[in-house]
Amino acid sequence: MIGTGYGGAVAALRLAQAGVDVHMVEMGMAWDTPGSDGKIFANTRTPDYRSYWLRTRTKQPLSNFLGFPLDKDVPRYTGILDAEEMGGIIVYQGRGVGGGSLVNGGMAVTPKRENFAAVLPSVAAAEMYDVYYPRANAGLGVGTVDPDWFETAACYQYARVGRKHAQRSGFPFVFVPDVYDWDYMEQEAAGTVPKSALDGEILYGNNHGKKSLQKTYLARAAATGRVSVSPLHKVTSVAPAAGGGYTVVIDQLDTGGNTTTTKTVTADRVFFAAGSVGTSKLLVKLKATGALPNLNSEVGKGWGENGNVMCGRANHLWDPTGAVQSSIPCSGIDNWAAGGAFAEVAPLPTGIETFASFYLSITKNPHRAQFTWNAAAGKVDLNWQTAWKQPSIDMAKTIFDKINAKEGTIYRTDLFGTYKIWGDHLTYHPLGGAVLNKATDNYGRLHGHPGLYVIDGALIPGNASVNPFVTITALAERNIETIIATDL
Ligand code: FDA
Repeated sequence: MIGTGYGGAVAALRLAQAGVDVHMVEMGMAWDTPGSDGKIFANTRTPDYRSYWLRTRTKQPLSNFLGFPLDKDVPRYTGILDAEEMGGIIVYQGRGVGGGSLVNGGMAVTPKRENFAAVLPSVAAAEMYDVYYPRANAGLGVGTVDPDWFETAACYQYARVGRKHAQRSGFPFVFVPDVYDWDYMEQEAAGTVPKSALDGEILYGNNHGKKSLQKTYLARAAATGRVSVSPLHKVTSVAPAAGGGYTVVIDQLDTGGNTTTTKTVTADRVFFAAGSVGTSKLLVKLKATGALPNLNSEVGKGWGENGNVMCGRANHLWDPTGAVQSSIPCSGIDNWAAGGAFAEVAPLPTGIETFASFYLSITKNPHRAQFTWNAAAGKVDLNWQTAWKQPSIDMAKTIFDKINAKEGTIYRTDLFGTYKIWGDHLTYHPLGGAVLNKATDNYGRLHGHPGLYVIDGALIPGNASVNPFVTITALAERNIETIIATDL
């Protein structure tokens, strides 16, 4: 299993339960040992060596505040958040045992059924909504904020302001489920447990409260006794082995990112669960360099960024959003059908009153990019263009232009640079690159090389209409069930 994110964790658990021995190879760290401050994870407000994957300077998604740059130097280390610069876009990804579940907001959203056909056109919606979405939600430990507590909790003042403004402009406001332990958060607010969401922890890991994969699928996989994990090991090649199966080449890394040993193992079957970017880059390289020559021409295609675009609004002084904001979002504004945008009401956990409302919008951006092998540079390129975010900006504006007009407010221009309104340079939600029923069959079996599978976000063609990990998990549950029943 290459990678330990959602797809990898689901597949490892189900294979192990079916009696198959699984070895998981993860390029990131185990994240099970506290640093000298007694904590495993760094705070979002004070990034340190643990925060970034092999960078000497932070690359914070919100790069500025009041126009001042926030980034700072950090020691180069195999940290938890990768800000991977892919030409026209920075793709943020989790690195470590648990993949994206280590760094994400835990927002666990099942897409609306009427949007599902656009997400995965070849998959029967009925089986997803009757069986696999419920299974994924249960396995992930998804829950929703207590609506009564929400009404009074100081840490959700920002979300209530977001609701007021949405509703006054006629937009539906929805609660968004999350894998954070909501009881724990209430205890944080009551001051009876160590704080995590209420202390601004999120982007570089949560020391408490969040049910990341290490606490759910991966814990259950480990309990079977059939799953082993090698952290700080990076797969660099997969090729057919002479006697059957596949030869997998793996670099063992030190915490400076240097290769200390190169190992070669043989596996009967190999699952690519390295995330949309990781899986796509590996497959494109292995096809182009002749290691996996029979992969088809769909490999590398159909990549999208889930239409992510960020913005902030400057509120009036009578609309404070709160000095202490839960770092875990719990709500959103749904204008998908009318305007192509679903906007999360997101926190700005700065620890001070900012009078700002902040949003991460997921939009119906139609653009798709392709990964290709750059032989001269010996690396994989992605042809995403920054200008391709314009449709996303236009869709987000269907919400926020209206709210600003109604409230007599303006956009913040100080969060992504100086005089820059839109966070259009990044994504948290890479999807596609080895699309289901194109690069693979309808269950993730790669065409051309029996025994190779894709089981992660690379299968989803560029857009999930909502935050993607529940869909990645549910699709993995669906595919692995068929693979176990028919291939093993
Ligand atoms: P995922 O990326 O989780 O795992 C892949 C793993 O493979 C990684 O651990 C990686 O290190 C490893 N790997 C890669 N290449 C390798 C190689 N060659 N060898 C060995 N290992 C390798 N989604 C959502 O639904 N709700 C949310 O609230 C958020 N919020 C959010 C915030 C932030 C900051 C980020 C970065 C992302 C989110 N997401 C999110 C997105 C979500 O986390 C993402 O969609 C999933 O983690 C993707 O799951 P996968 O299984 O595809 O890969």
